[in-house]
Amino acid sequence: MDRPLRIRPETHADVEVIRVLIEKAFHDVSHSDHKEAEIVDELRRTGALGLSLVAIDADGGIMGHIAFSAVSIEDAESGWYGLGPVAVWPELQRQGLGTALVNEGLRRLEGQGAKGCVVLGDPAFYSRFGFASDPALTYRGLPTRYVQKLAFQPQEATGEISYHAAFDAAA
Ligand SMILES: CC(C)(COP(=O)(O)OP(=O)(O)OC[C@H]1O[C@@H](n2cnc3c(N)ncnc32)[C@H](O)[C@@H]1OP(=O)(O)O)[C@@H](O)C(=O)NCCC(=O)NCCS
Repeated sequence: MDRPLRIRPETHADVEVIRVLIEKAFHDVSHSDHKEAEIVDELRRTGALGLSLVAIDADGGIMGHIAFSAVSIEDAESGWYGLGPVAVWPELQRQGLGTALVNEGLRRLEGQGAKGCVVLGDPAFYSRFGFASDPALTYRGLPTRYVQKLAFQPQEATGEISYHAAFDAAA
């Protein structure tokens, strides 16, 4: 994209806009349960929002958001994170913002010493970042091609993934 882009951690002042942004971005997503905004609120409330970044335009407006939270994986050391949700305003999609948010999030996670990251989503989007599925990595019976991981160093991560309770707590 040709506009200046800055990505920074969320601040308290961003919280309301992030909520609306996530609701709008997922509004027409058929596989969504429309709980994503509540999940982010609950992660934040419980101190489990490991990394929350916003993409900012030249005027300081929020264009997109990405969240990461710690996960546990049955046969892996601790230090893994789950990516998601990631959201860009519908009218700003397909201009590279989602890609920039994922890249910056992964860069920061690795810099914080994370072991790796998992994501549940479309391989057509996530494979470009190096995420790959593994038949031995599972999440609640979801077809394993949608269950993807990216290790920051060579290491095992197999078995069932468990996300923070916020992912189930959203009403
Ligand atoms: C997914 C999302 C964050 C991507 O952001 P974006 O700014 O549109 O993405 P980018 O412009 O960086 O990348 C666009 C690329 O991703 C692909 N893409 C975008 N959304 C996609 C989706 N939901 N599934 C598969 N591919 C997708 C596009 O085909 C495009 O590929 P191309 O570069 O080969 O043309 C954004 O579309 C969005 O907010 N969607 C609604 C919420 C959602 O589904 N979030 C993901 C699940 S957590």
